[in-house]
Amino acid sequence: MLINIAAQLIAPHVGLSPSELSPRLEYPPQKEMGDVSLPCFTFARELKQSPQKIAGEIAERINASQTDIVASATGGYLNLNFKSVKLKSDIASAASQVNYGHSSIGMGKRVVVDMSSPNIAKPFGIGHLRSTMIGNALVNIYRATGHEVINVNHLGDWGTQFGKLIVAYQRWGTQDALEREPIKESLRLYVKFHEETENHQELEDEAREAFVKLEQGDPETLDLWRFFVDESMKEFRRVYARLDVSFDHFTGESFYNDKIDPVVHQLRELSLLEEDEGAQIVRLDDQGLPPCLILKKDGSTIYAVRDLATALYRKQALHADIVLYVVGSEQSLHFQQVFSVLHKMGFDWAGQYQHVPFGLMTVNGKKMSTRKGKVVFLEEVLDEAVQRALQIINEKNSELPNKEQVAEAVGVGAIIFGDLKHHRQLSVDFNLEDAVSFDGETGPYLQYTHARICTLLRRGNYDVLSGKYSIDGSHLSSESSWECLKTLSRYESVLQEAVKENEPFSVARFLLDLAKDFNRFYNSGKIITDDADEAEILSKLSLAAAVANVLKHGLSLLGIKAPEEM
Ligand code: ARG
Repeated sequence: MLINIAAQLIAPHVGLSPSELSPRLEYPPQKEMGDVSLPCFTFARELKQSPQKIAGEIAERINASQTDIVASATGGYLNLNFKSVKLKSDIASAASQVNYGHSSIGMGKRVVVDMSSPNIAKPFGIGHLRSTMIGNALVNIYRATGHEVINVNHLGDWGTQFGKLIVAYQRWGTQDALEREPIKESLRLYVKFHEETENHQELEDEAREAFVKLEQGDPETLDLWRFFVDESMKEFRRVYARLDVSFDHFTGESFYNDKIDPVVHQLRELSLLEEDEGAQIVRLDDQGLPPCLILKKDGSTIYAVRDLATALYRKQALHADIVLYVVGSEQSLHFQQVFSVLHKMGFDWAGQYQHVPFGLMTVNGKKMSTRKGKVVFLEEVLDEAVQRALQIINEKNSELPNKEQVAEAVGVGAIIFGDLKHHRQLSVDFNLEDAVSFDGETGPYLQYTHARICTLLRRGNYDVLSGKYSIDGSHLSSESSWECLKTLSRYESVLQEAVKENEPFSVARFLLDLAKDFNRFYNSGKIITDDADEAEILSKLSLAAAVANVLKHGLSLLGIKAPEEM
């Protein structure tokens, strides 16, 4: 908002249009440099003048033309300070609107987000949690910026691992145990399988044969497979309900079974397929990549060819303009290979298909490996976070009526925020105790700030969001209120930035800035006092309400609830 105003004002003086100028404007890191600044270094060569001189001359001209904004020049920067009282009330009232921050930059673009995608018969791991939360936040942020979004759960419900599971189940499993605890029992069978293969190599062959049978549609094997899928899904759905995440499509890898032959056929027609020790591959030497395996020696399909069929389907049936694959960075090579094969097939649209990678997450220092059975169970992590949240609530506000419900929102929110507050590419060691704390850079801190404002508004009994009152910007003249307003004014561009970088982190960071600014404002002086006049109280409460509104909105984009009391 401030950048737009600044761009309008400065543009005529530098011979650029406001939209050309906007990307060059900055929010300076230090308050002393004003509210918005323009580095003038890039103009220096063109105009054959020093940046200092250019900044100084523009400042003079701006100051001569109006009084709402004061311009100054320091060290090659043109700095603007906004003085308009009306601007303050404009920001506060805009930020109180329901869909404040929304834009239509994505209008007409359809985005498919491939996210979560856990593997059937394996635990829902922390990596899948990251994909679910980053994916869910991106879905919400893309929608808020006008994109049409379809989110897809590309369940890992096909592949050699089902051969292993079927063999293990037939040898060591029972229906009863599997129905009781599908994931834990599948995991036990899976681990047992790997232990046994150390001395019984032939088990691997049996598993391969079982998968070939599955791909050929053997009814008994298929029934068994369906049983595994159905049981696992029950457990996954429970996790999704808790995280409040939904999917437009639950099309796992098996969905593409009948769409693979045409891809293989096409690859062959294009002479891209090559035989290599019995297997079918596409060479990618010219891209500096190892070959992409398409079919195994026994003719069975693999992950990569299923992804090729998936990619085509998303273009042809879903009409995707952009596809985002929210998948851990350990799969970077896989996606480079898949995208390269698509390019070789002549599909230029593959340029709009992007891997959105993220780093590894450990919980309290523990890594996981499904094969060895070393697993951090997501539901246990969630339960523990909720327990801790409940403990804190019991200490702080034991009278709270719906404690359990609030603790669930706080515990789950703590985990989500603990993830999203980092650049997604970073590896994160997740410390539960820190994440659930109400102080520091945590989800509960944001929720608590929001709840505090709700309490303040209830106490004053002012229905500030009704729109009945007009905000008088002259009562928002303190430095701390201006910092709050400035931060609020950035929201729309923060959401657009998050889209550009595919980084929910931008929103998380912004919310922390906003909460900190608000708490500084709030701690700088009582709002509801006997000697303050009503217009002043209302203006300050309106600012608080606007902050609460944006906190709640931003949290909901990240997939976090904002209780009104906690
Ligand atoms: N199920 C896979 C895994 O857990 C992730 C799938 C990601 N999506 C895709 N289209 N390959 O590793």
